[in-house]
Amino acid sequence: MIKKASFLVSNTDHTKCPTPNKPEFAFIGRSNVGKSSLINMLTNNKSLAKTSGRPGKTQLINHFVIDERWYMVDLPGYGFAKVSKSIKGDWDKMIKGYLTSRENLEVTFVLIDSRLEPQKNDLEFILWCAENGVTIVLIFTKADKQSKTKTLANVYAFIKATQEIYEEAPLYFVTSAEDKQGRDEVLEFVGAVTED
Ligand code: GTP
Ligand code: MG
Repeated sequence: MIKKASFLVSNTDHTKCPTPNKPEFAFIGRSNVGKSSLINMLTNNKSLAKTSGRPGKTQLINHFVIDERWYMVDLPGYGFAKVSKSIKGDWDKMIKGYLTSRENLEVTFVLIDSRLEPQKNDLEFILWCAENGVTIVLIFTKADKQSKTKTLANVYAFIKATQEIYEEAPLYFVTSAEDKQGRDEVLEFVGAVTED
């Protein structure tokens, strides 16, 4: 369980992010997949990260400090159809710069909507992570929205698709910000990585 979570700072430039003196875990994925909601669920704080029903809410690299021990980072999503080419270019520069340069970044959680069949932009992003040495763990979100059977079918289809990218399928969790499914598992994983 997390005892204390506080917002620290927002940035567009990874070089201005907090001193990299604590292990860091970032949350990325399509706009609206539930990154900010997951951060609130994990920290048990409904208003820590800003969420919205409309995609494109998170626009910056947002650092939160957890129990004075590790950083949690909320990132803006990709794949939001309405943004212009130049904004897409800005996103690429900001996020890909951050993911490849942040020296204390232990794991990037890539969030996938558990309601959907494998999506091209998720697989493309994961391929980019593989090619750039970005360590990922998958989190399938919104599991409360459909039956367990349907969730598992989508999870397995996605894992199967990633096996064409990674020889070994990436580790994954299934979560719901609504009913807190997966919270203990994700936090246990973070605990195990930070205790190394
Ligand atoms: P951007 O910041 O725009 O990239 O989006 P985001 O990925 O941070 O998504 P956000 O957390 O703002 O959630 C988007 C919408 O999905 C909101 O309406 C949330 O209430 C809803 N949502 C997120 N997670 C869940 C979940 O686990 N279950 C359900 N039912 N709804 C969820
Ligand atoms: Mg967000």
